[in-house]
Amino acid sequence: MAEAGTPQAWDAKAYGTFGSFVPALGQAVLDLLAPVAGESILDLGCGDGVLTARIAETGADVLGHDADAGLLARAKERGLAVRQGDGQALDYDDAFDAVFSNAALHWMPDHPAVYAGVYRALKPGGRFACECGGFGNIAAIRTAIRAVAERHGQDPIDRQNYPSVVRATRELEAAGFRVDAIALNPRPTPLADGMAAWLNTFRHGFFDQQGGAAMIAETTELLAPQLQDPDGNWTADYVRLRFLAFKD
Ligand SMILES: C[S@@+](CC[C@H](N)C(=O)[O-])C[C@H]1O[C@@H](n2cnc3c(N)ncnc32)[C@H](O)[C@@H]1O
Repeated sequence: MAEAGTPQAWDAKAYGTFGSFVPALGQAVLDLLAPVAGESILDLGCGDGVLTARIAETGADVLGHDADAGLLARAKERGLAVRQGDGQALDYDDAFDAVFSNAALHWMPDHPAVYAGVYRALKPGGRFACECGGFGNIAAIRTAIRAVAERHGQDPIDRQNYPSVVRATRELEAAGFRVDAIALNPRPTPLADGMAAWLNTFRHGFFDQQGGAAMIAETTELLAPQLQDPDGNWTADYVRLRFLAFKD
């Protein structure tokens, strides 16, 4: 787990519990990948390996790559091959038939560096199937965190990169890719465990500091009129960017 006060700090146990909806909602990008038995596939930002394992079940030879040691330890427990490293500095050459990524790219601010590394990592004809937070993702949540951080004289540590279709296309093409399909998909996402659990899990690096519990309470209070229904159920204002790009 990374230290508090950093853009991201993952607690593998909390992610496995309160973040389990993330891989559970990964079917569309898995379908876009359409893995085939015998293919070599890199899962970039594989986390605790739930979707990596789904890819492995198809008979593909999959390697999980992630920056976080705690999450990778969970992936290893599933019997998966993993490697720790920064997705913005991939060092593979002509190694994979496909690169897959779910819910990870927006945590890597330097997208041109990621795209260059993925392009290099692919064999000619290889494909990159990716879903990540896109432009407008969790806009209400980000605004509430900013407001509360400002009230407390804190940096909101809001470093995620949620690209538009135009920007992602431009950057993918600059890296050499042919973009086959790309779209932004608004995806209101029910939070069965509520907003406080979401904030604790996905903004752990910000809220895991002195006064964090009070700031979580203030943030949920600000968000309730927009994201909590009269029955008390929370929905996060997710927007996903999904694309399939080829190294021709
Ligand atoms: C929300 S999780 C998604 C995990 C998994 N793909 C899933 O669908 O459950 C985001 C993942 O991106 C990883 N990540 C963030 N920044 C990274 C970086 N610079 N290099 C590699 N992995 C990174 C995190 O460690 C985390 O495992």
